[in-house]
Amino acid sequence: MCGIVGYIGNKNDPEVVVDGLKRLEYRGYDSWGLATNNNGIKTHKQIEKIGSFDLKKELPGFTGNICIGHTRWATHGGVTKKNSHPHLSCDKKIAVVHNGIVENYQDLKESLIKKGHSFKSQTDTEVISHLIEEELKNKKFILAVKAALNKIKGSFAVTIIYEPENIMVGARKASPLVLGVGNKEFILASDVPAFLKYTNKVVFLDENEMVVIKNDDHSYKVLDIKSGKTITKKIIKINWSLEEAEKGGHSHFMIKEMLEQPSVIKKTVAADRKELNKAAHMIKKAKKIYIVACGTALHAGMYASYLFSKQNNLMLQPISAGEFPHFSHLISKEDLVIAVSQSGETADVLEAVKLAHQYKAKVLALVNVLGSSLMRAADFSLLTKAGPEICVLSTKAYTSQMAMFAMLSGEISNHLQQTKKQLSKIALNIQTLLTPKNLKKIKIIARKLSKVDNIYALGRGINYPNALESCLKIKEVSYIHAEGFAGGDLKHGPIALIEKGVPVLVFVTNDDNEAEIISNATEVKARGAEVIGISYKNNQVFDSFLPIEKNGLLGPIASIIYPQIIAYYIALEKKLDPDKPRNLAKSVTVK
Ligand code: AGP
Repeated sequence: MCGIVGYIGNKNDPEVVVDGLKRLEYRGYDSWGLATNNNGIKTHKQIEKIGSFDLKKELPGFTGNICIGHTRWATHGGVTKKNSHPHLSCDKKIAVVHNGIVENYQDLKESLIKKGHSFKSQTDTEVISHLIEEELKNKKFILAVKAALNKIKGSFAVTIIYEPENIMVGARKASPLVLGVGNKEFILASDVPAFLKYTNKVVFLDENEMVVIKNDDHSYKVLDIKSGKTITKKIIKINWSLEEAEKGGHSHFMIKEMLEQPSVIKKTVAADRKELNKAAHMIKKAKKIYIVACGTALHAGMYASYLFSKQNNLMLQPISAGEFPHFSHLISKEDLVIAVSQSGETADVLEAVKLAHQYKAKVLALVNVLGSSLMRAADFSLLTKAGPEICVLSTKAYTSQMAMFAMLSGEISNHLQQTKKQLSKIALNIQTLLTPKNLKKIKIIARKLSKVDNIYALGRGINYPNALESCLKIKEVSYIHAEGFAGGDLKHGPIALIEKGVPVLVFVTNDDNEAEIISNATEVKARGAEVIGISYKNNQVFDSFLPIEKNGLLGPIASIIYPQIIAYYIALEKKLDPDKPRNLAKSVTVK
């Protein structure tokens, strides 16, 4: 996943693009590059993350009121200057930045080389600029772009500039692209935070749409890539503050976003009743119900399956979206697929939604990004209330997903008021967990854990998904091997991993699993484990005790805060950047 930004307007200054790339750096940070159309196409490329690059100081004279930029997450071709974007045509009149994968690039490249084109990079993207150049031999620029894009198999969000014309073109298929509408200026970007500083008026481009922006009359037109037909688009006002999309004075997005969880839960309690009711109705009338998601969102789906089984006697079958194609043929038109995603751009989830529709099932989405691909693909979407989540590690989106499922379950079981009360109590409970005194205590535990090679977590029933999620957070940010188990599986193998000093997180809530999970804790303790009890009451088997309040089935929404914070402080202890963990991207837009 890469980040792309394009500017066209009165400002003769690529600073807007550089600024946008810095805000999209979480999407990929191998290398970055710029191109302006100013007396010819001028480019600048650099390896490494854009970080605090100072355009005025480090690139004086690099100006232009039409500029495109890219921050890269390498998929095709190593991390080299040649492979970083933008990529030019042979005549250097066309410059392209791209997020996505051109799956048929080798065939296209071979036929272009036969027609005399020479390639500078090993990337799939470079074929796009040469394809357009080839089409220009017998078409005008816009038609040439359209023809070229229709030859591409795979996914793309592209922004293109063309030396002879005062124009910028953007287009998307299976990768996100949004247009920021300013006063006589326009900014194309992979995500809204890139231009929120300049405008909150947004046009969301849909699948197979392209936008042509002309600087002469400051106009833009959206066209269908296949038919070329003009499409009328609504401008949506985004009510996110720039501050919300920035660190707000915290050292990392991860800690900022974890501290936002109490207000995120309060916003969820205020969710629109009509929308909740509509989603509840879809669940109630469905024959079979599946939940498809990936990573942290899948753990939220697993939490929902326990909650709905207990509160509504309903079976919601969670399936990892990447595995869903092996089961999709079992779906029928009476069934419902609930797709859960923070970004709404995860390729495997979008694929699963396509399959669900193929078998005529309905799709309900729990999604956090307004206007995202999932939101547009689903039959109905409930927007989770986490706000922009920038850190690669999902924290507040997880609790917002669990809280929204709790609201849905409360609506279906006619206990909505009670659920709202409990969630408000949990929001307060989390506030107390996040006090400096408590953070200090957790820091001590994290310092110890930062020195081990293995960490395990145990949970039963409603706490099992949190055992998995805790270990996902620790793995993602500290690179320590961490694994979560259901308490009932312990003696069927995992207990063999337990040896002296190995830390084991144990989740205990006041439910019918309490005695069993405590005996699991006793079993690992007997083999020398360091038991960290996340529980509503202390127990002699715990070496460390992290208290939570009695919250019954909603307890996991509060108890996950501890492992999130532990993971954060382990990363700091290991001098790692929690916002940009190695080998990971905020949303995985390729399968
Ligand atoms: C979580 O911290 C990870 N970033 C990852 O597992 C993530 O949850 C997964 O890729 C799903 O992303 P989504 O919610 O945007 O679909």
